Amino acid sequence: MTESLSQLRSSIERLSTSATIDNAKARRTFHDFRTALTRGKIRAAEKVAGRWVVNTWVKQGILFGFRLGELQEMSDGDVLSFVDKDTFPVRRLTLADRVRLVPGGSSIREGAYVAPSVICMPPMFINVGAYVDEGSMIDSHALVGSCAQVGKRVHLSAAAQIGGVLEPVNAAPVVIEDDVLIGGNCGVYEGTRVGARAVLGAGTILTRSTPLYDLVRGEIYRASAEQPLEVPENAVVVPGSRAVKKGRGAEWNLSLYTPVIVKYRDEKTERGIELEEWLR
Ligand SMILES: CC(C)(COP(=O)(O)OP(=O)(O)OC[C@H]1O[C@@H](n2cnc3c(N)ncnc32)[C@H](O)[C@@H]1OP(=O)(O)O)[C@@H](O)C(=O)NCCC(=O)NCCS
Repeated sequence: MTESLSQLRSSIERLSTSATIDNAKARRTFHDFRTALTRGKIRAAEKVAGRWVVNTWVKQGILFGFRLGELQEMSDGDVLSFVDKDTFPVRRLTLADRVRLVPGGSSIREGAYVAPSVICMPPMFINVGAYVDEGSMIDSHALVGSCAQVGKRVHLSAAAQIGGVLEPVNAAPVVIEDDVLIGGNCGVYEGTRVGARAVLGAGTILTRSTPLYDLVRGEIYRASAEQPLEVPENAVVVPGSRAVKKGRGAEWNLSLYTPVIVKYRDEKTERGIELEEWLR
């Protein structure tokens, strides 16, 4: 971390725990903080020596921005009206950002980093603290929740929801590593980590409470109090169900939803999920 970033860190840590603050000064500090987030200089979480580490101070800074902000009208012309905290305006993109934001009701908040070459199809929303790396595609009705970390060349299909994890500040955000395909209508929540090149079949939901059955390796993965649910690299996960044996489950023929790893990525998967390169 450069000296100016470590100064920023101590200012944010001090401000977010102070009962009284100098408003004008705090706003200047917050502005520098938000700019660093928008530029991808700081992140809510990052991989350090192979492990995802939460930068608690960055999440504290985002929450501080909500505390500091005043409601403001952000209306766009005579037809559309918006009111939000003035500390988190909509990001205005320019040609220099090299992000394709297709017209039609999408928005990216200030404090979200979106790398050049990312494509955003309307309507979609990228929330504060999110980090979306190069070559990724955020399709229509997709959500990249607060602080979510999305890797390179990720395809977030139509209506896929990547939940935000802002509080508590030390809670790990959702992480989607490089080259992952998240199928349509998936939901990835509560700090779940999806390893590089994994594929989530359409409609797969992952939370801290969903055990993940690996038919290939014969294992069941679960989140623990300290660790979120982790999808192994290259896993192909589809929505499945398992019989309920407890209580009157068997008598009533009940089953519960459960994600299942049916295979690890192979050539057939590659063919099935290939993206038309010319669209980029
Ligand atoms: C997961 C997916 C990529 C298929 O991968 P694949 O490697 O081609 O998988 P296969 O066809 O070899 O299937 C492996 C097994 O899983 C089953 N399976 C595959 N997809 C499944 C699904 N979505 N739900 C339930 N079972 C599924 C297959 O029936 C097969 O089981 P079987 O051998 O017992 O018949 C595909 O189902 C999928 O969901 N693609 C994403 C579609 C999408 O959302 N596109 C959005 C573009 S905007």
